[in-house]
Amino acid sequence: MHSRKLLPLLIVFVFTFSVPAQVYHQHGMVVSDNQVASDVGAKILKKGGNAVDASIATAFALAVVHPQAGNIGGGGFLVYMDGDGSSTTFDFREKAPLAATVDMFMDENGEYIPMINHNGLLAVGVPGTVAGLWKAHQQQGSMPWVELLQPAVELAENGFPLSFALAQHAERFFNSDEDEFMQNFFTNAEGRPLKMGEIWKQPALAETLKRIRDNGHDGFYKGETARLLAKHMAENGGIITEEDLAKYESIEREPIRGTYKDYDIISMPPPSSGGASLIQMMNMMEQVNWDEIEFNSTEYVHIVAESMRRAYADRAEHMGDPDFNPEMPIDRLISKEHAQNRFTNINWDKASVSDSSKFGQLYDGKNTTHFSVMDKDGNAVSLTYTLEWSYGARTGSPELGFILNNEMGDFNPVPGETNSRGRIGSDPNLIAPEKRMLSSMTPTIVAKDGKPYLVIGTPGGRTIINTTFQTVLNVLEFDMPINKAIEAMKIHHQWLPDRILYEGDLLSPDTRKALEAMGHTLEPRYRLGRMMGIVWDRELGIFIGAADSSSPDGGVSGY
Ligand code: DON
Repeated sequence: MHSRKLLPLLIVFVFTFSVPAQVYHQHGMVVSDNQVASDVGAKILKKGGNAVDASIATAFALAVVHPQAGNIGGGGFLVYMDGDGSSTTFDFREKAPLAATVDMFMDENGEYIPMINHNGLLAVGVPGTVAGLWKAHQQQGSMPWVELLQPAVELAENGFPLSFALAQHAERFFNSDEDEFMQNFFTNAEGRPLKMGEIWKQPALAETLKRIRDNGHDGFYKGETARLLAKHMAENGGIITEEDLAKYESIEREPIRGTYKDYDIISMPPPSSGGASLIQMMNMMEQVNWDEIEFNSTEYVHIVAESMRRAYADRAEHMGDPDFNPEMPIDRLISKEHAQNRFTNINWDKASVSDSSKFGQLYDGKNTTHFSVMDKDGNAVSLTYTLEWSYGARTGSPELGFILNNEMGDFNPVPGETNSRGRIGSDPNLIAPEKRMLSSMTPTIVAKDGKPYLVIGTPGGRTIINTTFQTVLNVLEFDMPINKAIEAMKIHHQWLPDRILYEGDLLSPDTRKALEAMGHTLEPRYRLGRMMGIVWDRELGIFIGAADSSSPDGGVSGY
């Protein structure tokens, strides 16, 4: 009994307090939240596939082995830069269904109905993942689509040994009051929850993946899959129709670009707020005299938090789907002048106060997943995709076998209502049919001398932009190796609620006291971010990778 109780603690300890070693490869590398999926991607690289091919195979594999966030029922963003420096992005963010309305999450008195935008089928956005991977393949892929899907099909059909982390989820879902789909999600043929090491097969998902393998984009958005999904929606109170699915297209967009000193930052433009906010904060960091400020000092936390506060206020006020907000002032927000104005208004001795009568934020999400890939030619992919919460809407069609997102919760649910707890009500991100909800996902590539240097990203809901920002700063400004940059102390401030989250054991009590004396409110968090990063050292001719120690199943693979 005693040792049973200790085991999880021991495992958490090992995963949490060791800074994992960096991994080195010469020809190509995949770093993801799941070692099996990283191996799938690395095999594709070894077969001669490029970074986009490996990403597609990794993404589909994650949809099988990392179902809490890897997905075909969600959406995300892919940032691509080739070894010679040209770049592009693929936006496969979910869209509001055609039947969605601005007030669909409010009752007849105009009151928000708690959690309705996060639970059940109304919370589901039209999935984008398959369309995005298909489009990226059409533009940049080199290997046959079928070969990239086959590993995922086999993992779903033949099964794989359940990890410790997934076995814990199996136990929890089985003993929960979730819907039948989730209660049975991780069960064996006799209907009991699978244990660690037992083989988990997903026959319905395997059939869905085969249709995608054989018919590409249309294998998901038309035919049997679309019909079954629309039927499931209609029978269970959802509003996504076959028309919604048939209309969904991924969009190739110009990346958002900024600079930090001699480096170029290439990231995701709206409908993600990630790239613009990251660049805005890096611009503010350029104003700092780093000879006078040490990493993790009181001054460091203060100016980083104040920069975050300002960037998140702008984010809340201005950002949404660009196709519905043609006037968004993104160029101004990412200009050096704007950063300078914002930065000079920081009081060096005192915390500012976030004013909820102006703007704010909502809750943090629970799970998403990021992976980074580089191939032998230095082509790089930074891809983050999500179901929004861990296991998304925690429901799906038993005939299709995949979990549906609850991404509709990323829209501003109540027009005009912005409060100090962090709900935002600004116009750019209100619900409208076919609109993409604003995201914080920040898949990023930093280039040095015009070529990919650092590939990075993370889950973490609203914290994503900030943990990416600090990891980039750690590498570029503090010269940390990638594993240290990922593990180093992180904070998060999102304007509203007006408080700094910090990694509990990594910020000294004295620093906390000093920050409180300046007027900051501090709240510990166990860990912020789950970064997956690669640095390309061109002089040595190697890829150096690290997966965040907070990822129980994560891992680097390459050759
Ligand atoms: O797009 C977004 O910003 C959120 N739906 C991401 C959610 C998330 O990262 C949850 N992860 N921990």
